[in-house]
Amino acid sequence: MKANELRDKFLSFFREKGHAVIPSASIIPENDPTVLFTTAGMHPLVPYLLGAKHPEGKRLANVQKCIRTGDIDEVGDSTHCTFFEMLGNWSLGDYFKEEAIAWSWEFLTSEKWLNIPKERLYFSVFAGDEDAPRDMESYNYWLSHGVEKDHIFFLPKKNNWWGPAGATGPCGPDTEMFYDTGKEKCSPDCSPACNCGKFVEIWNDVFMEYNKTADGKYEPLAQKNVDTGMGLDRTIAVLQGVDSVYDTDLYRDIMNKIRRIADKEYGQDEETTRAYRIVADHIRTSVFILGDQKGVTPSNVDQGYVLRRLIRRAIRFGLQIGIPEGSTPEIAQAVIDQYKGVYPELAKNAAFIKQELSLEEERFQRTIKQGLREFGKLINRLGKDVKVIDGPSAFRLYDTFGFPLEFTQELASENGYTVDVEGFEKSFRHHQEISQAGAAQRFKGGLADHSEETTKLHTATHLLHAALRKVLGEEVAQKGSNITAERLRFDFSFSRKVNKEELKEIENLVNEFIEKDAEVICEEMPLEKAKESGAIGLFESKYGNMVKVYTIGDFSKELCGGPHVARTGELGRFKIKKEESSSAGVRRIKAVLTE
Ligand code: ALA
Repeated sequence: MKANELRDKFLSFFREKGHAVIPSASIIPENDPTVLFTTAGMHPLVPYLLGAKHPEGKRLANVQKCIRTGDIDEVGDSTHCTFFEMLGNWSLGDYFKEEAIAWSWEFLTSEKWLNIPKERLYFSVFAGDEDAPRDMESYNYWLSHGVEKDHIFFLPKKNNWWGPAGATGPCGPDTEMFYDTGKEKCSPDCSPACNCGKFVEIWNDVFMEYNKTADGKYEPLAQKNVDTGMGLDRTIAVLQGVDSVYDTDLYRDIMNKIRRIADKEYGQDEETTRAYRIVADHIRTSVFILGDQKGVTPSNVDQGYVLRRLIRRAIRFGLQIGIPEGSTPEIAQAVIDQYKGVYPELAKNAAFIKQELSLEEERFQRTIKQGLREFGKLINRLGKDVKVIDGPSAFRLYDTFGFPLEFTQELASENGYTVDVEGFEKSFRHHQEISQAGAAQRFKGGLADHSEETTKLHTATHLLHAALRKVLGEEVAQKGSNITAERLRFDFSFSRKVNKEELKEIENLVNEFIEKDAEVICEEMPLEKAKESGAIGLFESKYGNMVKVYTIGDFSKELCGGPHVARTGELGRFKIKKEESSSAGVRRIKAVLTE
């Protein structure tokens, strides 16, 4: 079976079970500053899991583009990737454990669908703790389908609990499905809980019945949901009987392209295999970030930083296998060709993707040279007697010059030095704690928890959008937004700087809208009708056939998932704090509401 077929089968199966198929949301979360990337299919659905009504109904399914960089060091083995597609089905307060498990079982084992031999499947269920009971229901449902007791494992929260995606939000116990690769057990206790590679997780059914609050408590959700996620890459590897996700049809052409330009052979030794896979994975993820129409480019903050790290890591591992300088756009083209049928935005943005990769390659080549000079100075400073490069110095090379630790270690060893790895890790952790504290500060609030302030700023964003179009013209279209409890940030297309007078006019207009105390009205309608009605908003990626349109007085009509205040009078005073460039042809406004 090919990957395209698996996508289609999954969606057909759940369509047959009464699910509406919704498109993949953007990989950069919209209006949710609690995470940098969409990490799971449930993520764009958080408001609906918390009880908002979804315009497409209570049963949904889709294929979602996801990025997870937490496991970046494991990329290169046979199953980990920083980008993957997640096949998911959801019940928003509709069916629960019994149906979810029955359908997972049917899809995996039925001849009509995946036809995976039953004896190859293993399961884990939640063992129970002080927050939630042992999940005997799921256990019994698996038994009722004929699963042997010794194929089911009770595991703790660490393994069998999912969410929240950010610090707070919907979460719950899960039951996971594993494929036994047939490898030898790593020990007598070998189970789906260990990472030895014998058992590969392919699907996860989460029973989302709790909301984790800011004080760390798990409170029952009014609405019991099901949230599932099946990894497309891993499942297709199982179905194609290959050893790793990199040997599936998803990666075949990409790997072949790398083969043609590298001077080492894939599979010749472990290190080379790992380097090939890292290059392929990181370029694939970079292509999806750059191709997402949000204008993210390599930088030192947020998504841009992750992107920079991925591109530089790809270049660095590319060097190991003899990939010449300047090759990333060529590899990117193979990724675009592989995926453009499913994700047309990649073809549309191909020129931008390749140009940004080239620019980052050039920048990296320059920093490498500076870093090498810095390394030389460091060695001189240490003198002849010290043969260890201390942690903070190694970390500086990493942090300022983009030298991965292994790179510094190699250079060190060529010069007869070693690196204090523990010291490096200590500096690294210290830095991480500082930046996480910064991020937590910056991301306090957010739409995921629907705080009052965030909701107000969200409505203010619609008013700003309307005012911008009135003052600057229809060239203005939303390119992105990010809202915390403290401020809103709105990115829009416009080709030049917005001058002071215009900013004042925009600000005044928003305040006039607020003073009119207009009602905010939400209507559900088919997408086509919304377009005809003249509603603005991001039409392309996020919504299904039925959409919500929010109308505010006679000045704003916009497609949106909510939430919003009831009347504009609740907003207070609107104030623009900053106008700046976000990327080529895109401006950014930061604004606040005051009493
Ligand atoms: N949200 C669940 C996961 O990512 C399905 O595993």
